[in-house]
Amino acid sequence: MLTDFLTADHGDCDELFAKAENAAADGDRAVAQAAYAGFEAAMERHLSIEETVLFPEFEARSGMVGGPTAVMRMEHGQIRAMMAQLRQALEDRELDDFLGLSETLHILIQQHNMKEEQMLYPLCDSTLADRAQILLERMQAY
Ligand SMILES: [Fe+2]
Repeated sequence: MLTDFLTADHGDCDELFAKAENAAADGDRAVAQAAYAGFEAAMERHLSIEETVLFPEFEARSGMVGGPTAVMRMEHGQIRAMMAQLRQALEDRELDDFLGLSETLHILIQQHNMKEEQMLYPLCDSTLADRAQILLERMQAY
């Protein structure tokens, strides 16, 4: 249930990122910048939902504080740092730099999302089954 919502949200973020990449590949900086801003906002919302709603609930319930959520939080930091570099490349009108960096970010996000979708989210679904509805509502309203 939590897995479904968060996995769909990963897909929405991926789509926005692909839009920005396609526009940059076409040399359309203005469209790329607008699409990229949409991607970054959606991604920031997603990361924040996990960090402020999902992870604290999972950590409190499971007692696992230095475990998978700690790794995910660290990777969120890497994703944010890369997103800032990509934003800068667009601001500097360096579309080739943007496209090079975007490949790296793409891989980073895919590997990160796979760990969440295959490991952490199912674990959250089983650990937080009795809280799933209320958590889902908090995440949707975020
Ligand atoms: Fe994450």
